Amino acid sequence: MFITFEGIEGCGKTTQAKKLKHYLEEQNKEVVLTREPGGSKLGIELRKILLSLENQGISKECELFLYLADRVEHVQQVIKPALAQGKVVISDRYVDSTLVYQGYGRGIELDLLYQLNALATNNLEPNITILLDLPVETGLKRALERNLENKQSRQEGRFEAESLDFHQKIREGYLTLASLHPERFIVLDGSPAPEKVFAQLLEKIKNKLKF
Ligand code: TYD
Repeated sequence: MFITFEGIEGCGKTTQAKKLKHYLEEQNKEVVLTREPGGSKLGIELRKILLSLENQGISKECELFLYLADRVEHVQQVIKPALAQGKVVISDRYVDSTLVYQGYGRGIELDLLYQLNALATNNLEPNITILLDLPVETGLKRALERNLENKQSRQEGRFEAESLDFHQKIREGYLTLASLHPERFIVLDGSPAPEKVFAQLLEKIKNKLKF
């Protein structure tokens, strides 16, 4: 079982992914919680490059290939081996982030991105994708507060520094993708308190997973 979390900055996906891991472990499942960018050894280095404010000027093509390189390593070194051992894999971001940020956000052709994602992942698709949707203003406010509190996040502000308009495109892109793939997507309102969001998540995921 391969589950991914997606959403704009500050949507709460990291918190929800941790809660789901905890819940599944209580059901005696072995769970690997991982993320993109930065889910593999090489990926940790790529993440630093990708999220550093110092690299604000990189081209959209360069950015795309770095995310894809991160994904190749992640799939080959982490996700596939864990799935082969029968573990549940939960990834904080995956292929849809590329479709949305590099496609709807940066304007790279979507058909091309679908093909590059297929190449990077050897066609490994998630079984379920949880999209946490919320207004851009709310998400960015949360993300900026977190960046002020946390030294690590403070150095990772490259996307938070994008305009409101960019983030609006991201939100809409996610909603469009979810409507194109309703069999895979679960869309949740990410605005309420984390416990409320998680209750909704469980209800919806139980219908899909039958556990
Ligand atoms: P993340 O660490 O999830 O940041 P946050 O928790 O603040 O949302 O993701 C890092 C950034 O990388 C995020 O702004 C989205 C971007 N991203 C892409 O543009 N393309 C991709 O393929 C991926 C995986 C992430």
